[in-house]
Amino acid sequence: MTQKLTMLLTAGAVLFLSSCQQPVNNKVAKKDEASKYFDEPVITHKVDSVLSMMTLDEKIGQLTLYSSGWDKTGPSMNENYINDIKAGKCGNIFNAFSPDYNRKLQKIAMEQTRMKIPLLFGYDVIHGQKTIFPIPLGEAASWDLKSIQKTASAAAAEAAAAGIQWTYAPMCDIARDPRWGRVSEGAGEDPYLGSKIAAARVHGFQGTDLASDTTVVACVKHFAAYGAPEAGRDYNTVDMSERKLRDVYLPPYKAAVDAGAGTVMTSFNDLNGVPATANHFLMTDILRKEWGFNGFVVTDYTAINELVPHGIAKNEKDAAALAMNAGVDMDMQGGTYSKYLKELLKEGRVTQQEIDNAVRRVLRIKFRLGLFADPYKYFSNKREKKLTYSKYHMSLARQMARESMVLLKNDKETLPLKKGQRIALIGPLANSQRDLLGSWHAAGDWKINKTVKEAMEDQFGRQNIRYAKGCELRGDNRSGFAAAVSAARHSDVVVMVLGESAEWSGEAASRAHINLPHIQSELLEAIHKTGKPVVVVLMSGRPLALDKEVPMTDAMLEAWFPGTEGAPALADVLSGKYNPSGKLPMTFPRITGQIPIYYSAKNTGRPYTKTGKEQKYRSRYLFTPNTPEFAFGHGLSYTTFSYSAPKLSTTKLEMGDTLHVSATITNTGNYDGTEVAQLYIRDMVGSVTRPVKELKGFRRIFLKKGESKTVHFDLTMNDLSFHRKDMTWGTEPGDFKVFVGGASDDVKETAFTLVK
Ligand code: BGC
Repeated sequence: MTQKLTMLLTAGAVLFLSSCQQPVNNKVAKKDEASKYFDEPVITHKVDSVLSMMTLDEKIGQLTLYSSGWDKTGPSMNENYINDIKAGKCGNIFNAFSPDYNRKLQKIAMEQTRMKIPLLFGYDVIHGQKTIFPIPLGEAASWDLKSIQKTASAAAAEAAAAGIQWTYAPMCDIARDPRWGRVSEGAGEDPYLGSKIAAARVHGFQGTDLASDTTVVACVKHFAAYGAPEAGRDYNTVDMSERKLRDVYLPPYKAAVDAGAGTVMTSFNDLNGVPATANHFLMTDILRKEWGFNGFVVTDYTAINELVPHGIAKNEKDAAALAMNAGVDMDMQGGTYSKYLKELLKEGRVTQQEIDNAVRRVLRIKFRLGLFADPYKYFSNKREKKLTYSKYHMSLARQMARESMVLLKNDKETLPLKKGQRIALIGPLANSQRDLLGSWHAAGDWKINKTVKEAMEDQFGRQNIRYAKGCELRGDNRSGFAAAVSAARHSDVVVMVLGESAEWSGEAASRAHINLPHIQSELLEAIHKTGKPVVVVLMSGRPLALDKEVPMTDAMLEAWFPGTEGAPALADVLSGKYNPSGKLPMTFPRITGQIPIYYSAKNTGRPYTKTGKEQKYRSRYLFTPNTPEFAFGHGLSYTTFSYSAPKLSTTKLEMGDTLHVSATITNTGNYDGTEVAQLYIRDMVGSVTRPVKELKGFRRIFLKKGESKTVHFDLTMNDLSFHRKDMTWGTEPGDFKVFVGGASDDVKETAFTLVK
């Protein structure tokens, strides 16, 4: 060892020692106290000292992330990764999620590597670590930002105890095509709602102190526009105008970055000819220069390698150069940085500065997480045991599941079910345990869930439930129909639990038809023919096209995949213990052929209006209405709400001022209930065309039977802004409409003019 290196290592040891003397338990440290130790200048200084001691190989190691190979049945660590960790060539691990196993790996990094830089452990904690909350699309249907933040923070606490410091969430991809399976992981179709939820999730995961042992660093994904693949097929090409990108698709990512998210993940897709992972415009111009993001960017799984089949790189070496030049800091699983960065540097195709800056960004996050101060604090069997499935987390899961459910239809007050009713419980999902958790259920154990059948028996009494499966989710086997029909005949009301398997949504789970498989539809038809009232409970990871089924039902409830406490929550809703309040975060088309269908559409030059006589040369379908089955924002309650016309503080709004909007809502029905009041605007004439409606505010309010309350909104200049003809962001004077109501297709309106 050279004398210089020995000196450096001694200096390194001193640095680490002093780091270790920082307060370890930041849970008790106040925010300002914590920031004293973790504020930017201090971190920058420490990062630079560490960087100055690192070899090129060690630097590249910090830019390398490998999967441990751990899966739910046990670890299957590839020995090479252990060797890479030992050699300082792998600084980050994902998919390892147990305190003991993660501690073992951390020990290798801390005791057997020259630089002793702690590993960073990542995992897809999407809607819970072990206590599983509803899928994100379901949580979005609650429109309850506080609850969403709470579930994210509970997920973070469980994950952090299991040895994870980094979650690959929130997914901020706007999705307007329900064929795409990953709509289940996001907040739906709307940039305003999506942005609010993205920020709430980041706050939930990260808390106010990243260095706390109950928080994890968030990863905003998939940057960018992954939710708009052609034909809804996962990983497919995205081609869209920059205006649409900026007005619709970018806002939720930006909101998450503004909320302080520490990391961002590239998306798999091609965007306007340049795959995101090689896209300098996205990763550097927008993310870093425009938005000031100072965390690190990780690729999606082997996304650098995939630049080759995309046809933008001849080989993986070229791909690595493209990604590094674009501003991508860490290679997830592909090993391309590890193989080629050294050579690329020698050849002058990447610069030392690019590599150093990437390493700086990674180290900065490790410092902010407090890993240098105490590399082991995240691995706690005790804490994991205490938090996992704790009473508090389970009650959050139950409440979030109740709030996520959307009452789509309820004729003749079929719901709530009445006391003493004999209930036939039918359908392929009625007694399924596994599906309740949905896709990406992390370390969640489906074996602890109650099924809908069990929860209904608890809620309504075993003697009142007659169960018959009826059929499988797909296929042609009708042998269970007769028993199901007989159960219906011997009951007062039928509850059918239909929909999708958990595996039909999530990654690589696109569907070309989003209807109910024909066997389920036929079963419904057979039950409908008995003449008994039929309630359909849907479990699905996406909006479904139900034009055939809706008329055969008396009531319909969308339950999504509701999580660990989903079944008891469903029983609470069906019994009326909880009055449903969810609203759709995504439009339900009538048929798949209407896709993409979303409320915030443009008007066209030949808009079709239903009224009047036949309108041939209009923007319409020949045999299908333009309107959806269930609109964005739709969701009924067991009670009813009436809205006054919105009142404005002025009808002539001066540039720069804020418009105050209010409306009075009255609970006109027979139950106490929660309503989500929604505010939309329309900019009537612009230098570029504007959508017919845009959500700009919402309020969740609880109203007792007969009670009235006034909701208040402020519309700022920012709310009225868009990317104008010259692509600048701002407002334009002119006429606007304002709408307030309980769904995007059920509003009262008024108008104002924005004057110079
Ligand atoms: C998914 C990401 C996920 C990553 C790591 C990828 O296939 O697209 O969303 O975070 O795997 O598991």
